Amino acid sequence: MCGIIGYIGKRDALPILIEGLKRLEYRGYDSAGVGILDDKKLSVFRSPGKISSLEKALGDSTIAGTIGIAHTRWATHGPPEERNAHPHADCGARLAVVHNGIIENYAELRASLESRGHTFRSQTDTEVLPHLIEEEQKKKSCDLSTAVRSVLRQIRGTYGIAVVSSEAPDKLIVARLGSPIVLGIGTDEFFVASDASAVLGHTHKVIFLDDGEMAELSRDGYRIFSLDNSKIDKSPEELDWSAEDMQKNGQPHFMLKEMLEQPEVIRNSLRGRLDVENGLAVLGGLRDVAERLRHIDRLIIVACGSAYYAGQVGEYMIEENAGIPVEVELGSEFRYRQPIITENTAVLAVSQSGETADTLAAIREAKMKGALTLGIVNAVGSTIARETDAGVYNHAGPEIGVASTKAFVSQLTVFALLTLFLGRQRKMSMSYGRKLALELQRIPDLVQSILANRQALEPIAASISGAKGMFYLGRKYNAPIAFEGALKLKEVSYIHAEGYASGEMKHGPIALVDSSFPSVVIAPVDSVFEKNKSNIQELKARGGKIFSLTDEDSGDLRSMSDGIIAVPKTVEMLQPILDIVPLQLLAYQVALTKGFDPDKPRNLAKSVTVE
Ligand code: G6P
Repeated sequence: MCGIIGYIGKRDALPILIEGLKRLEYRGYDSAGVGILDDKKLSVFRSPGKISSLEKALGDSTIAGTIGIAHTRWATHGPPEERNAHPHADCGARLAVVHNGIIENYAELRASLESRGHTFRSQTDTEVLPHLIEEEQKKKSCDLSTAVRSVLRQIRGTYGIAVVSSEAPDKLIVARLGSPIVLGIGTDEFFVASDASAVLGHTHKVIFLDDGEMAELSRDGYRIFSLDNSKIDKSPEELDWSAEDMQKNGQPHFMLKEMLEQPEVIRNSLRGRLDVENGLAVLGGLRDVAERLRHIDRLIIVACGSAYYAGQVGEYMIEENAGIPVEVELGSEFRYRQPIITENTAVLAVSQSGETADTLAAIREAKMKGALTLGIVNAVGSTIARETDAGVYNHAGPEIGVASTKAFVSQLTVFALLTLFLGRQRKMSMSYGRKLALELQRIPDLVQSILANRQALEPIAASISGAKGMFYLGRKYNAPIAFEGALKLKEVSYIHAEGYASGEMKHGPIALVDSSFPSVVIAPVDSVFEKNKSNIQELKARGGKIFSLTDEDSGDLRSMSDGIIAVPKTVEMLQPILDIVPLQLLAYQVALTKGFDPDKPRNLAKSVTVE
């Protein structure tokens, strides 16, 4: 999804902006651009495709200037062509704007501007912004921030924007409504970005703007204010994500690096949160709402993508072990229905980025209807983290790989903690709580053993890579793992994979099965093991190849299977945390076998900030 980086200081802006754009690449984009001010001269370069194409477009031109803005665009209005890439300029090419989000009333604004003689060069919604600012400055001969403020009051929709103008060559203006903007506070220099990861190489001191806030940055300092120009006092906070977290640590891909980090990620999600002796989860982020949580009679989990599947595992965990009725809903559905919410309903958003538009809208809807709102969020200071009443951070560190891996595993870990927390408030005994806590502590080492054995997956990956399509099947706790396993394969290898609950497969999908249509069946020896075996027989009877994910006690399942994906054993509720790991590795391996770059899956975006 789109990314913004801006700089004002004493150094040359261009290399800083290009480096910032590269740090934003992971979000997914299809064109890029940069606008630099050198005193009163504004230079804009844009290019469809990768940042390397933008660098080529820049060629050897040395662009001086110590203030500038840059953007990676993920197309919404108009295809990824140079004319639609940001920055966009006014008629006189005096000011440049980069924008994330969508301006809903752009069509009427554009028509009205065109009728007043403005010439548009792109098909984007964004381009109305520079023209409106130009118009405002002409009308009122006001300064840049006043003009931007008054323009933002005319638009409907969402935005994170950054603006520079040759008529105010010492100012950088940013504003936020529904699309994140963070200020990076350096020494004698300032950065702005849509994502803190873009500035971490320069400073760890940041200020997150809230919706309805703007900032004016100069070389001497910054001023934060609201759309009605009231001053807002905000102090910088220190982020503990290291710039090294953003690198690949010698691994060929972020996806692999992040999968290998999973034992440590789980340890980080658990750190300081287990009281083994009393069989309790200590969740500081829920302390203030603990009494309210004791009385909830319904929990609705809202999420999108992988986070939605993590929510489905959470549903099984919480219903079985804490006895609270749970529903899981896609953010995009919840926001447009009439969900029934009472004062004893809690609505829990699960989101790695904390910025997913549909999940955020669902949480706002729930809040408006009086629910207690909670979050399981990875990105510290993100919008969902800030807008929910309480929550638990994943502490998974920044996830760069577009296909979620370590964030998903940490979401499952946090769900296990939440289950312990809610369960012990209700029916769960201390001894069972203790057992779960002890078992949770073993999980990082068990994941490590799966990762160490990853070469064993190579023959299965080779066999799958020629398939025209395939199934991922699982029951109970492992049904959502089947969905997530299939999603991983689709995302990075482009093989059509369908995740089904094993029992559902015979109600139609089995028509697809023949000798060229293999299945991965997640069948650890658990309460539904025998049922899974029956489904495997049904597939085999139709010539389908079977790759069984199972543990060492699986007996004759091994002889029924064409390949075994071995996992260690844990208690049933925690088994999904282990089972997803080889499925992630398998998808990665298939992508490599087919020659695809798993870090840059086609058409996908990391953080989806549009509906
Ligand atoms: C995008 C990503 C998915 C992710 C989903 C939800 O579609 O490609 O990997 O699961 O958004 O993202 P969130 O940040 O809310 O977890």
